[in-house]
Formats: sequence, C-alpha cells, structure tokens
Amino acid sequence: MKMFTITTVLLTISCLVNTQSRQEGIYMVSNSVDQFATKLLDTTRRNLDESFNIALSPYTIWTLMAIVAEGADGNTLKQLQNTLTLPESMADFRYNYKQLALNLLNNQNGVQLDITNAIFVTNQYPLNDTFKQITRDSYNVDINSVDFSDSDRTLNIINRYIADATQQRITRLVNPDDIEQAEVFMTSVLFFKGKWRFPFNKTATKTEKFYADDGTTPIGTVEMMYHSAPFPYSALTELKSFVAELPYGDGDKYGMFVIVPSKNEKLNNVLDKLSKMDFGVIIDRLAQAAKEYEDEEIDIYLPKFTVISEYTLNVVLNQMGITDVFNANKAQIKGITPHSDLYLSRMLQKATIEVDEEGTVASSAAGGSFAYKTMKPKLMANKPFAFFIVDKLTRSIIFEGKISNPKGICATCTGL
Ligand SMILES: *[C@@H]1O[C@H](CO)[C@@H](O)[C@H](O)[C@H]1NC(C)=O
Ligand SMILES: *[C@@H]1O[C@H](CO)[C@@H](O)[C@H](O)[C@H]1NC(C)=O
Repeated sequence: MKMFTITTVLLTISCLVNTQSRQEGIYMVSNSVDQFATKLLDTTRRNLDESFNIALSPYTIWTLMAIVAEGADGNTLKQLQNTLTLPESMADFRYNYKQLALNLLNNQNGVQLDITNAIFVTNQYPLNDTFKQITRDSYNVDINSVDFSDSDRTLNIINRYIADATQQRITRLVNPDDIEQAEVFMTSVLFFKGKWRFPFNKTATKTEKFYADDGTTPIGTVEMMYHSAPFPYSALTELKSFVAELPYGDGDKYGMFVIVPSKNEKLNNVLDKLSKMDFGVIIDRLAQAAKEYEDEEIDIYLPKFTVISEYTLNVVLNQMGITDVFNANKAQIKGITPHSDLYLSRMLQKATIEVDEEGTVASSAAGGSFAYKTMKPKLMANKPFAFFIVDKLTRSIIFEGKISNPKGICATCTGL
C-alpha cells in the first residue's frame, strides 16, 4: 500500500516535470516564431510606402523556411538558423515544433484554426527519403505528386489545393511564371476563424474619422465599431504605446492584440522597437492585467477592416539575413531531392483578413518555388570523341579524327 503511494507520487512528479519541459520546449519555438514575426513586419513595412496596409502570416513563412532548413547545409543552413532562431540540433527542434503545432491546433469553442503544409513534386524526381520522412513525421507535410512539365495543370492543382485549405479565401496564390522553372513547390497554408468573446454591437458602429500618426490630421473615414467590456489592457511604456486584447472564443487561448501608439509617437517607431524586444513581455503584461483588473471594463473603438495582401518575399527575407538559399550559385539545399541541385527561386505570400463586429476570418498561404540551378553546360571529353576542324566561312571540314585510345596520345598518357 505504502509502495503504491510512493510510486504514484513519483509518477505524478515525473509527469509534472515532463509537462513543464514540454512547455519550455514549446516556448523556445514560439519565441523564435515571434522574433521572426516582429522583424518580418518591421522589414516589410520598410519596403512599402507608409500608406500601405499590411497582412502577413509569419507562422506559415517561418514554418516553410524551417522545412527548407531540413534540407539545407553549410552557409545556407547557418543563415536560416540565424534568422529563424533555430537551435544547432534540428532533432531537438523538430520534437518541440511538433508539440507546438499540436497545441496550436487544439481548437476551442468559437475558434477554428487549420494549418496545412504541403509539398508538390514531380513523380519521376522524388524527394530524398530522409527529407520526406522528416517532413511527414515532424511537420505533417502532405506530399503530392504533380508534373511540372504540364504547368497549366500543375498550377490548377496547387491553386485548388490552397483554395480548399482556405475555404476559398485564397484562390490564386500561384501564377504561371511562379512555377515556370519549378521542380518542387512547398506551401504552408493557414485558415483562422474566430468569434469575439465580446462581440461588438452592430448598432454602435458609426462612420468616424481616421487620423494620421499625430492623431489630429484626418486622412479618411472608417466604420468604427465600439464596445465596452472587460478587455485586458495595459500601457507599454517601453514602446510608448497602449495594448488591449480582444479575446476570441472562451478567451483563454486566442486573442487579437491591438497596439496603439501614445500621442505623438509614430507607428513606424513602435514597430522598429517591437522588432528588437521580446513579444513575450506583452503577452505576460496582458495576462497580468487580465488577472488584476478582471472585471474592469474598457471602451474599445476598432474599425472594421479587410486587408488583402500579396508579396514576393525574396527581398524582405534577404534583408533579414536569408540570402544564399535564393542564390542559384550559393544555395546548398541538396537534402531535398537527390537527383538535382535546387535553389529557392521565389517565396510568395498572400494573406487576407476580415475583421467585423462578430469576429475575424484570416487566411494566408506562403509558397516556395524551387528551381533547378541552371547548370553550366559541361562537355567533358574523357571518353572516345571525334573532332573536326572546320572553315566556317566556306563550311568546309578541313581536318577530322577521333580519339578512342589514350595510349600514346601524349608523353605521359597510358592505356590500361
Ligand atoms: C446594442 O445597442 C443598442 C443601442 O444602444 C441597444 O438597444 C441593444 O440592446 C444593444 N444590443 C446588444 C446585443 O447589446
Ligand atoms: C538524403 O539526405 C540525407 C540527409 O541530408 C543524406 O545523408 C543522404 O545522402 C541523402 N540521400 C540521397 C539519396 O541523396
């Protein structure tokens, strides 16, 4: 009886330890995703005119690049590990990533989150077996065979696949020239649908002015939603901003964090500073606020909005330190397919988000198109060959011959 109790206690303790270390592993990966996310947003906005709205799904882009890292080597791998903040050991990382992905998709009432990873590859040029197994087991990649030489059909297959995974929100990620030279196409697709925990009252939505960074110069109007509810809220002095969380579903898992700069602070400065800090600080701050001011209502004014964006991310990722994988002369990603040397010719992303009184629908697809490095043509006369000396103007062969035996053709050559 006593033995039994002790064993139970020990089991309970080891269970707790396991849960705790699994949680730490997940946080290690999510921390990497968040660092990448804030840098990606900051770098993207730097490449666009200030007047552009932006929608991005860092998780899918990050995941896709992590899958590429599984087939990468040398400097290409180093750059991916640096920019994605991956650890030295991909084996540990894989385990933690899988735990994160499983937990992320653990859906709640009122929220649907689907993430689909897929690779499209031509039948007669299959993936490396190790790569295939790793991507299936750890990244839940769905491997599909297509025929890239039949590009119209392949284009339709890939686009239809993504349209289905986003409930028809993204119907055309890929255009013909995106896969013109493609040998492998990878995609990571996300679909999110969440009902607000505290829905906005439609009758409270009014047309209101929207201002420039200074908060006083009107630059247009929006359909402003309004609601008063116990939204977690905090000042972020280090960012000269305020943040509120609009929870989805039951409220304890998914939420939209809305960060608004204080008076006289520009959003660009906030995004710059945010890209250099730990996003976990903001998550903790709001969790703390939710506990401390549980029943305190705040007024939220948020415009209804829809953003549809489409980017080729090569330049942005270059600026973030991932360069070699995009360079046909430098890419080292030999681990993806055994028969050819690939590089990442194009990294695409399309995203849409619709926010209204009831909630949010967001979807995105990241796509990587991998092409053969254009091989320098090679002629190696290391077996029997013929030669002709030609006068090109008169088109006359003036001399000819063949070499089929190395013996005696030069002082040191020998026949075996
Ligand atoms: C929405 O607002 C209107 C007007 O203020 C009010 O009459 C109505 O009860 C509200 N509806 C809900 C669901 O709160
Ligand atoms: C497949 O990839 C693994 C790991 O990168 C490598 O060791 C192996 O040689 C590759 N197989 C082929 C057939 O290229």
